[in-house]
Order: sequence, then C-alpha cells, then structure tokens
Amino acid sequence: MAAIAPVDPKSFTPNRFADQVLLVTGAAIGSIGGCTAIRAAHEGAAVMCVDRKAHELHKTVEEITSAGGRAVALVADVAKSADAERMVAECVQQFGKLDLALNAAGVMDGTDPSAPPDFDNQKPLLPAAIHLASDDYWHTVFANNITSMFLSMRAELRQMLEQGRGGAIVNIGSIAGLTGLPGNPAYSASKHAVIGLTRNASIDYAPHGIRINSVNMAQTDTPMVFRAYEFVKWAMDQGAGSSMAGAKSQSLLQMADPDKRGSTPWEQAAVILFLLSNEAANLTGLAMATDGGWTAY
Ligand SMILES: NC(=O)c1ccc[n+]([C@@H]2O[C@H](COP(=O)([O-])OP(=O)(O)OC[C@H]3O[C@@H](n4cnc5c(N)ncnc54)[C@H](O)[C@@H]3O)[C@@H](O)[C@H]2O)c1
Repeated sequence: MAAIAPVDPKSFTPNRFADQVLLVTGAAIGSIGGCTAIRAAHEGAAVMCVDRKAHELHKTVEEITSAGGRAVALVADVAKSADAERMVAECVQQFGKLDLALNAAGVMDGTDPSAPPDFDNQKPLLPAAIHLASDDYWHTVFANNITSMFLSMRAELRQMLEQGRGGAIVNIGSIAGLTGLPGNPAYSASKHAVIGLTRNASIDYAPHGIRINSVNMAQTDTPMVFRAYEFVKWAMDQGAGSSMAGAKSQSLLQMADPDKRGSTPWEQAAVILFLLSNEAANLTGLAMATDGGWTAY
C-alpha cells in the first residue's frame, strides 16, 4: 500500500492573507481552529483567537506571536449571545475590521472539554441512543454546536455588512452532518443543522459578496478525538454504547493507509484556508466533505 504523505504542518502560502483579519472560534492549541489560526497568521493574517479553554487558547496565540505573527486571545463562551458579540467587538477594537471567520467551536458530547474526563460521573451528558439520552446531553450539544454558530455568524455578518466589503466564512460541520453516526443523536442532528444554516446564509449574503461554506471531516487527530477514544474505551468496558458502533469506522484513505491514519488538523486547515481565500471566489453554500472519502461509500 502506498501512503499519502500528510500536509506538512510548516507548509504555507506567503502573504496569501496579507492585510486580512480572521476570527477563529475554537482556537485552542492542537485543534482544527488552532492549526488554522497558526497557518493563517503565517500567511499574513491578523487573527482573533477565541475559545473557552484559556490555557490552550493562549498557547495558540503564543505560538503565533513568538513567530512574529499577529494574534490576540479572547476567552469566551460563544454559546452565549453577549460573548459572541464581545468577540467581534474586540476583534474590531484590536485590528480595526473583520474580513474572514472560521467557526470551529464544537463539542462531541455534553461534558466540559476543558475538564478531565470523569465518565462515571458524567453519564447523563455522554452520547447515547435516543431512548437513553438525557435533556442535558441534547441541550448542551445543541448549544455548543449550532446555537453558538448562529450567534457567532450573526455577530460576524453584522460587522461584515457594516463594512460593506464582502467577506468569507467557513463553518465546521462533520461527516455526522452528511450521514448518521451511531449512538450520537445530538451530535449528528446538530451537525446536519450546521449544513442547513450554512446553505441558508449563503443565499442571504451572496448579494453582499459574502461567501459561506462548510467543511465536514471524518476522524481528525485533535484533543476532541483523543477524548472520544477514551470515551469509547470506557463505553466498551461498561458494555454501553450503540450496538451499531462498529458498522463503519474508517474513511477510504484511512483503510488504505498502511498505518490507518486519520486526517490531521493541518490537512483540514489547508482546505479551510483555501475556502477563505480568493482562490475559492466561485464557491459558496458548499458542504465540502473533507473526509478522506468517508461519505463516498
Ligand atoms: N476531530 C474530529 O475528528 C472531528 C470530526 C468531525 C467534526 N469535527 C468538528 O471540528 C470542530 C473542531 O473540533 P476539533 O476536532 O478541533 O476539536 P477540539 O475539541 O480540539 O476543538 C474544539 C474547540 O472548541 C472549543 N469550544 C467548544 N464549545 C465552545 C464554546 N461554546 N465557546 C468557546 N469555545 C468552545 C473547545 O474548547 C475546543 O477547544 C468541531 O466543530 C468538531 O465537531 C471534528
């Protein structure tokens, strides 16, 4: 089998985002948002980095500024309207405008991703098939995956409209927005909603020169996935989880890879930055499957 080399974390396009201001939600170090922020800064963007995880967020910003890039950290919970508005106001205060946005904040389940996993005590917040799922699980996942995106987009779009110079937004969905995902009803339903919200907005803001697309990945090696592995191990020990969990677990490229590797956050960043750049001038309303062929079979 011939391995496909992953995108080099150091690869970048010089000056692609010179004079551009990018806001990223979910920008903690190691996350898809964090890697995108780092590469965008290397390509000339000033980046407003937002996350709930203060320590991990500051690490992303330190990595950018220590390499000579421009970035500011804001600890905020974008599931709250006031925080979503505050992040855009802070972005304009710091950098004078907002050109581009990546809405990457999201959760797999209802637990707080900044707290260490304690699955025995977090049971009501964990993924479960509908007949076993709690109200808290449902509402928390929806708040963080889709209400947060509506609130972020509303604040971002109001600013872009005020500026009157167009813009581009990328929203992160998932393969779970394109297919079902066993044992994860709120995740799958909220990620389908990401695609719906993206398509809806692409229509309303096309006349304003604002392009809006979503990227929908399969397994990508980030803190979310490392936590999901721990959850799966715990669920198997408990005899819990969906009986259909093993139905499909790998993308085409993962199956074909000698080491069975998933995607890397740098591979996702490469596509996201393409969509945010003017090279994607003719693309809007797209639900792009950045999934190694997961949804091709
Ligand atoms: N990693 C994968 O395999 C995978 C697959 C499909 C989709 N996704 C999606 O990609 C996006 C990024 O995830 P990731 O893999 O980088 O995971 P991650 O957990 O590393 O990053 C997500 C970040 O969002 C932050 N966040 C969540 N809710 C927030 C809120 N309300 N306010 C502020 N920050 C918040 C978290 O603190 C976290 O740092 C998510 O939307 C996720 O659902 C990831």
